[in-house]
Amino acid sequence: MIKALFAARPERWPAYEPALHSAFTEAGLAVDLRTDFAPEEVDYIIYAPNSDLQDFTPYRRCKAVLNIWAGVERITGNQTLTQPLCRMVDPGLTQAMVEWVTGHVLRYHLDIDRTLATQDRWQPFTPPLAEERPVTILGLGALGQACAKSLRQIGFPVSGWSRTEKQIDGLSCYHGDAGLKAALSTAEIVILLLPDTPETQNLLNAETLAHLPKGARIINPGRGPLIDDAALIAALDNGALAHATLDVFRIEPLPADHPFWAHPKITVTPHIAAETRPLTAARVIAENIRRGETQAPFLHLVDRQRGY
Ligand SMILES: NC(=O)c1ccc[n+]([C@@H]2O[C@H](COP(=O)([O-])OP(=O)(O)OC[C@H]3O[C@@H](n4cnc5c(N)ncnc54)[C@H](OP(=O)(O)O)[C@@H]3O)[C@@H](O)[C@H]2O)c1
Repeated sequence: MIKALFAARPERWPAYEPALHSAFTEAGLAVDLRTDFAPEEVDYIIYAPNSDLQDFTPYRRCKAVLNIWAGVERITGNQTLTQPLCRMVDPGLTQAMVEWVTGHVLRYHLDIDRTLATQDRWQPFTPPLAEERPVTILGLGALGQACAKSLRQIGFPVSGWSRTEKQIDGLSCYHGDAGLKAALSTAEIVILLLPDTPETQNLLNAETLAHLPKGARIINPGRGPLIDDAALIAALDNGALAHATLDVFRIEPLPADHPFWAHPKITVTPHIAAETRPLTAARVIAENIRRGETQAPFLHLVDRQRGY
């Protein structure tokens, strides 16, 4: 019997326990799933970085740590973790991110705020068509590519930026430091879907924000440290940027006295863009345990040197 330890906040257990049991059955795996085991018995750890488990040293027979979060920045630096680490790529989470990003892009594109602000008078206006509104996505991984596809389908010209060179149908792709300026220079709306790594921190700063056309909008469902907070506020205050929608922050929950809360050109959402969905995520975990048991390569393996 395979022994899998569920190490996440206790409130996650009621949703994950039945989802994991049915995914294991579906995959033909006999798994003893618990929230406590003697560490030396554990074969796999199903893990959330905010769990109490932070010292992996005693888990000597563990074959892999299977993260239920997409972001891994809170665990990549853990020196006690020597086992393979897999991040979560969950079809349910991806769909949620596509919906959230598309909704916030359309809010800006259609100027829905203007409609809401003029409810007391007849004041028609014509927004441009999507094909006239260039959008740039920073990060062309699982989530960036899914959002790019959805926005392309609506008609937006989409550019994307990644670390390594890519060719993706229908997208203008840029990469590396040299490609960032080109990716930003046409963007009326920028979406950040990068991981938090030493290379991506403060990527949007006073210098790079200046590459954007005047009046650009920013949507950040990636991670808070991707943006230099003070540079963002300065660019909004001086009119270089029109608005920002931020789902993620350096400190979460966002402290009550943080200037983002009261800023008239910032919308704060409480890290709700895309949560892992237990039913679909459980299948990904079951598939990785199946792979671990058959010596097949794990899916979504994190490169700890790279940080994502
Ligand atoms: N707000 C929420 O609710 C929520 C939910 C889920 C995820 N997230 C965030 O979204 C992030 C992205 O998720 P994902 O699943 O799409 O990750 P992913 O598949 O690992 O993709 C990451 C993308 O970022 C690019 N990248 C990484 N470092 C870079 C650098 N230094 N320069 C340029 N590009 C770089 C990668 O380039 P390559 O393709 O060249 O490797 C890749 O395209 C997560 O890390 C997490 O922080 C937020």
